[in-house]
Amino acid sequence: MAYGDAMGHLPFREVIAEYLSTFRGVRCHASQILVTTGSQQALQLSAQVLLDPGDQVFMEEPGYRGARVAFMNAGAQLIAIPIDAEGMIVSEVMARPRAARLAYVTPSHQYPVGMTMSAARRISLLNWAMRSGSWIIEDDYDSEYRFGGRPIASLQGLDTHDRVIYVGTFSKVLFPALRLGYMVVPGDLAPAFSAARDAADIFSSTLYQAVLTDFIREGHFARHIRRMRMLYMERRKALVNAIRTHMGNEIEVIGAEAGMHLVASLPLGIDDVLVSKIAAQNGISAMPLSSCCLKSPERAGLILGYGGVNARQIHDGIRKLAHLKSGLTCTKVPNAK
Ligand SMILES: Cc1ncc(COP(=O)(O)O)c(C=O)c1O
Repeated sequence: MAYGDAMGHLPFREVIAEYLSTFRGVRCHASQILVTTGSQQALQLSAQVLLDPGDQVFMEEPGYRGARVAFMNAGAQLIAIPIDAEGMIVSEVMARPRAARLAYVTPSHQYPVGMTMSAARRISLLNWAMRSGSWIIEDDYDSEYRFGGRPIASLQGLDTHDRVIYVGTFSKVLFPALRLGYMVVPGDLAPAFSAARDAADIFSSTLYQAVLTDFIREGHFARHIRRMRMLYMERRKALVNAIRTHMGNEIEVIGAEAGMHLVASLPLGIDDVLVSKIAAQNGISAMPLSSCCLKSPERAGLILGYGGVNARQIHDGIRKLAHLKSGLTCTKVPNAK
């Protein structure tokens, strides 16, 4: 019941370290783990500790809004780096006239589009960070839920020069209302991160950390992941089938191999913000892909989550979305290519 350590409850940090080294190939000691209020706080603390106003940050384009907001609030200048089938195009990082202080990446499962960063790109990005003295934030937010192929080890595990800050969360693997996440920081940065956390809100609730420690140690966490992987696989299949059945082939499904969301790309010239608004008015949550872009996007799309809805709700939702098609067509941008 007393005040706790700003880095987090030690037994919890020990089980996280063990979990990360066994399942994610992360090389760390419990002393490097800082328990956070979800990954958002990890991003905020990273911005506070590592960035000065005016510093440049390289972001995947499209990329995660939560990270964008955290870095912008610290006064950073965001630079959009395009992605392709191998993830962030690292040659574009190296071609920039000025090296950024930090690059934010989601290498296991690019958010929102879903590809995995290739081994060659990972090595190039680490080399860039080493040569330029920059930091890499690896946001490994949902890699537990991979449906095909083997899980991909972390970028942090390949880092031999302490350039990577690894960020994880229990929001996806368990549930967001828990507000528990963690970061793995290079050992010599731990005091600065600990001080920043202490100044922010001192520490995370010991009660939740202790309960989760037991949950993991007693094997319930591993069982939960196995069970949920099957469930999400079924929901993903239901969503892809519903899109095919109700919306036909003009909607392309992207990034359905892992995680709890996919992207349904919309025909050229459709305004996804408007579509998302119309969908929300009809009780359907569909985030516009363009909201993840710093620049004007080449293609519009909807980010469709399927973690919290059953197969029946998925079918009903997509059928409803298809019925809004007349609305979709009238949202065509007049001068679209
Ligand atoms: C890329 C990414 N990182 C992190 C998170 C989770 O954030 P938090 O742990 O703050 O709930 C999400 C949730 O959607 C996400 O998409």
